[in-house]
Amino acid sequence: MPMNDIRYDVFISFKNTDKDNNPTEDSQIAAILYKELEQRGIKAFFSNVRLFQFGEAAYKDAIEKALDDSKVLVAIATNEEFLNSKWVKYERESFHEDILAGRKENAYIVPYIKNINVNSLPRSLRGYETFQINNNVEEVVMFIIACLKKNNEYKEKKFEKSLTTGKNVSTYDPTKGKELKRLKIQSDYTRPADMPAIEYCLKNLPHKDKIYILDAGCAYGYVTSNRFSKIENAFTLGVDISNKCLEYAREHNHSDNIVYEYLDLENEDFDDNLTSLMEKYSIDKFDIIFSSLVIHHLKNPNRFLRKIRKYLSKDGFIILRGSDDGSMVSCGDDGLINKIIDMHVKTDGISDRFNGRKLYGQLIASGYKNVKMMSYIKDTSSLDIDEKEDVFLERFAYRKNYLQNAFEKDPYNIEKKNALEAMVYALDMLENKFSEESFWYCEIDFVAVAKRV
Ligand SMILES: C[S@@+](CC[C@H](N)C(=O)[O-])C[C@H]1O[C@@H](n2cnc3c(N)ncnc32)[C@H](O)[C@@H]1O
Repeated sequence: MPMNDIRYDVFISFKNTDKDNNPTEDSQIAAILYKELEQRGIKAFFSNVRLFQFGEAAYKDAIEKALDDSKVLVAIATNEEFLNSKWVKYERESFHEDILAGRKENAYIVPYIKNINVNSLPRSLRGYETFQINNNVEEVVMFIIACLKKNNEYKEKKFEKSLTTGKNVSTYDPTKGKELKRLKIQSDYTRPADMPAIEYCLKNLPHKDKIYILDAGCAYGYVTSNRFSKIENAFTLGVDISNKCLEYAREHNHSDNIVYEYLDLENEDFDDNLTSLMEKYSIDKFDIIFSSLVIHHLKNPNRFLRKIRKYLSKDGFIILRGSDDGSMVSCGDDGLINKIIDMHVKTDGISDRFNGRKLYGQLIASGYKNVKMMSYIKDTSSLDIDEKEDVFLERFAYRKNYLQNAFEKDPYNIEKKNALEAMVYALDMLENKFSEESFWYCEIDFVAVAKRV
């Protein structure tokens, strides 16, 4: 099972076994902390001693990747000997060096110790706030969360249920798997779906010297740049919750008339945060609010639509693009597509897979007027073999990520492991079908356009 897709927030550093090869007290403390963090949706790296059977290099590869990912390293030790053991020292010191060299911004080491005099801590631990191991693990967990919040990497998801799926909110992560590549392909293939809607809005807006566009959930900026950079009198604000995507967008999809900023569309301070961004760029209202493939990830899409409506100019338009797993028709896939969708829909933490058909009602329910569906049908009949491979990547390959997330959260659950393996197998079979000449696939991109009043 390839596990290198996991991105870690926290690295738990501890001595695993003592000189007689028995588990240390440190490893038990680490396991308790790991569980507490996982329950809060925080991905922690808990070194896997089994990797040693493949040699030191395998272990080192795994920890290097986790050290690179993590923003917090918790240094657990119940005595000085363990604190200075080979790997514990290596992990802590390389993390500390990354901080000193500026390779890690807003990163923290959290010494979590007992039986060790604070004054005799090694240099790489001095200067960090120290926590004593006692019965209250909550205290150190809260401190870790505060550190992660400084990086905007922590979003409390534990008790949140999506109002549309009834399951835990979407665990979608645009930085996971092949999403960077997939979102680029998707942006190219969905241009014909968006352009009639965008042109319709531009044609029907009253003349203005400058028009302001919001792209809500812009990810890497592929769609933002492709659809809006060439509109001469437009200024576009792209917002997203993923800082990693935004950094990429600023570097690779920049344009004089586009800016990319952090904004959580569901945060309780959404109004204040959006208002200060609008003030920063002297935006009074938006003329077009655009959002593609985003609201099906939100916990409460209607609340977002209601709130954002207030920021639309009187004559302004909203454009939403959604997708719907019920819109797929195919011939020659031996029922694989239905099986894949069935497995996907049963997974916890998925987005709303039937969002496309709901856009019309969601807009009406959220106060918008003149809702038009300008949907677009695409099929594989005119595509060559490489383009068909792209459609497979865009529409299917990523579905394993949700099952992988579910499995990673519960790695000892055999059901989840089996489901992931079955999905990987079915996707491999379907990928081959997409390259068969007689196989045909068709689906609808749902695009809704509406007015504020
Ligand atoms: C499937 S991607 C679509 C990206 C882009 N609109 C496109 O069409 O290529 C969904 C995006 O929504 C963002 N997103 C999800 N929840 C969000 C939230 N609460 N606030 C802001 N962005 C969010 C994700 O980070 C991700 O970049």
